[in-house]
Amino acid sequence: MNFNIAVLPGDGIGPSVTLEAQRVLEAVGKRFGHRFDFTSGFIGGISIDKFGQALTQETLKLCRKSDAILLGAVGGPKWDNPSAPVRPEDGLLAIRKELKLFANLRPVKMYPALENSTTLKPEIVRNVNLMVIRELTGGLYFGKPKKRWATSRGRRSVDTMLYTEKEIVRILKVGFELAMTRRKKLTSVDKANVLESSRLWRQIATEIAREYPQVAMDNMLVDTCAMKLIQNPSYFDVIVTENTFGDILTDEASMLAGSMGMLPSASLAEMPGPGKHAFGLYEPIHGSAPDIVGKDIANPIASILSASMMLTYSFDLPREAKAIEMAVISILENGYRTSDIMTPGMKKVGTIEMGKLIASQIG
Ligand code: IPM
Ligand code: MG
Repeated sequence: MNFNIAVLPGDGIGPSVTLEAQRVLEAVGKRFGHRFDFTSGFIGGISIDKFGQALTQETLKLCRKSDAILLGAVGGPKWDNPSAPVRPEDGLLAIRKELKLFANLRPVKMYPALENSTTLKPEIVRNVNLMVIRELTGGLYFGKPKKRWATSRGRRSVDTMLYTEKEIVRILKVGFELAMTRRKKLTSVDKANVLESSRLWRQIATEIAREYPQVAMDNMLVDTCAMKLIQNPSYFDVIVTENTFGDILTDEASMLAGSMGMLPSASLAEMPGPGKHAFGLYEPIHGSAPDIVGKDIANPIASILSASMMLTYSFDLPREAKAIEMAVISILENGYRTSDIMTPGMKKVGTIEMGKLIASQIG
């Protein structure tokens, strides 16, 4: 089969990790007889420098006519001034909103080879295999009013956590459907003891749970969830939560997998499922890591595993997706490590070599 992939490398380490994901996709194409055509576009800081905008119509057009999008990372100190009129992150938020990528899937898996790479005790992280589903186009990130202004009594600012019933229902349904394909356990995370938007969320979660009697659903407050994620992470199977909570919890949860450099993500415009080609954008959850740019030390595995998610959710190629994951596992088991997951006695490799090793494992 032929697939058109829009590649938006972005800033910082984005371009170098994305190249390795492309290398691995090429290897998959060769072994399984598919053709992946890559067309690159600009997003983030590099787009601001070139066009004065973090996301151009041209990039959007490219994405709309592609089968899926592979994104690197956006942002960097060069564009970090709090009074700058436009930020690289605006591009990421705009592409999510414009392409209606409301469901962000962030799997957190502890590969046994990395048990000793985490800052937690091996017995705590052993067997961690959870999926966070983060609502991606609503909540504090997009709600209006959203502004900063000056008053006679000092400066003020406001952000708005707005959710409609429709938005809550569709993301919860993704949660329940995914839970049905896994251990049938769903934790809906909110802050219902304080926030109105969370009280509506919890009400709707409880209503939808009746349609899924096979799924054991519990409601958990986000602060409790943050604690439980490091106290007893194997408690969780699928977590579903709103945008900001999901952002924070997934950085925390990435530590259960050894490093941020291990965590992929899929941002989907529709409910995924077998036989379906959900349109989506695939990116590592890590950022642009400006401090390590140009050193060939970034871990490309998050980007490579994002490519694997693309094969699963957008191209309905589960066998090919599995081949990528198996290649990653076997390279880790053979002792190869980038510096973020390095432990004594292992073989340290750079970004490019890690990509080549994984690609060659595929065939
Ligand atoms: C993420 C990132 C983004 C977010 C930033 C870069 C805007 O942290 O994808 O988790 O907050 O969504
Ligand atoms: Mg984040």
